Amino acid sequence: MQATFLNITNILKSYQVYWRQDPFFQVVNGCTDWQSTNPDLYQWILGLSPQEIVAYKQYPKTLLNDVVNYLPQIKQLEQQSQLPSLPVKSQTLSNHMAAGIPGRKREQIEALGSACIDQHKGNQWLEWCSGKGYLGRLLAANSGQKVTSFEYQQPLCDAGQSEADKLNLPMTFVQGDAFDVDSQQLFDSQQHAVALHACGDLHTTLLRHAVKHNLAAISFSPCCYHLIEESLYRPLSTVAQQHDLALNKQQLRIPLQATVTGGERVKRHREQEMIYRLGFDALCREHRLTQCYLPVPSIKKSQLAEGFQAFCQWAAQKKSLTLPCYQQQEFTYFEQIGVQRYWQMEALSLVQDLFRRPLEVWLALDKWLYLEQNRYQVTISTFCEPSCTPRNLLIQGKKITGE
Ligand SMILES: C[S@@+](CC[C@H](N)C(=O)[O-])C[C@H]1O[C@@H](n2cnc3c(N)ncnc32)[C@H](O)[C@@H]1O
Repeated sequence: MQATFLNITNILKSYQVYWRQDPFFQVVNGCTDWQSTNPDLYQWILGLSPQEIVAYKQYPKTLLNDVVNYLPQIKQLEQQSQLPSLPVKSQTLSNHMAAGIPGRKREQIEALGSACIDQHKGNQWLEWCSGKGYLGRLLAANSGQKVTSFEYQQPLCDAGQSEADKLNLPMTFVQGDAFDVDSQQLFDSQQHAVALHACGDLHTTLLRHAVKHNLAAISFSPCCYHLIEESLYRPLSTVAQQHDLALNKQQLRIPLQATVTGGERVKRHREQEMIYRLGFDALCREHRLTQCYLPVPSIKKSQLAEGFQAFCQWAAQKKSLTLPCYQQQEFTYFEQIGVQRYWQMEALSLVQDLFRRPLEVWLALDKWLYLEQNRYQVTISTFCEPSCTPRNLLIQGKKITGE
């Protein structure tokens, strides 16, 4: 695994110009780091039509096959980043037990819960950042063992506890802050700690505590890698510390950029908002209202329906700028520029997209190496299809006992 990690690290480092820079800022700053070093790729990618871009987004395998002409190591990177998928779930919840759990969440719980039970070690469970404790509910119901569900939000603890009591399950909710030293009192070496979708520092804190308290096993699926206190990701394993990629928050967001579960409406809103932002930026630059990109605050999606002109007036007011008195056709002109810039951004993002999964796997392998370094037997797999959740990596470790 260390060899795979080092291979992935080396390719990611040698190709870093292709993924470090945000495509949005490549467009607004008019500068792509690899434009002059790989002009053939640059010309090819910017020559794609919107239909071709959309097709490549939908079928990333085709993109990979076509990009290999310009980035010869990209296939090797993809192969090294492939993970086994778990066998079909073995544990389910009856409809009675699943009361109140939304459909997709239930699928995630059943798939992840099956893997936890199959790899179980210990005599109780600790559910970290549990929300209402849906995963804990499956573990308590199907293993019969005690579950401690730890969660920050009191209303979620109350709702989870009341449901568990109704179902007569051995679950205890504990309200607390994962970053508070007191949270360590919950850890016990006979536990199997589990977490579904614990964000950035929440899952790394879980790992550190689990290792420190010699937990029997740990199973967790990470998400929102960028939600960290420090400005750069701090690797956990010695190997990753020695071969660090120095990922900042913007780069830690790259694995999250798939919009698989968003739906058509979400996609349409995003497209419109990006076009408006890019068009407004072009207008401001042309009229020297600003010399560099001015971040505009987020906007209510319903406001987008008022059109580009209204967006510009709203954004100008937010940034205390005075817009020149325009005719309608001048707004139409800058909106068209917004459209062109949007497709440039989408084309450039195809290149960055190729590094989404390898970066996520790099982050997961750091955890693998950390657990292994602390005498755990580790596996990493995908526990469900991306259509169920794109955050589908599962890292599992079992404490190795004896010499
Ligand atoms: C993405 S949700 C996942 C919830 C649940 N595991 C699930 O999949 O349904 C993350 C949970 O972490 C909780 N959380 C956030 N910060 C926390 C903290 N500092 N300590 C404990 N829990 C926290 C949130 O309230 C939220 O319920």
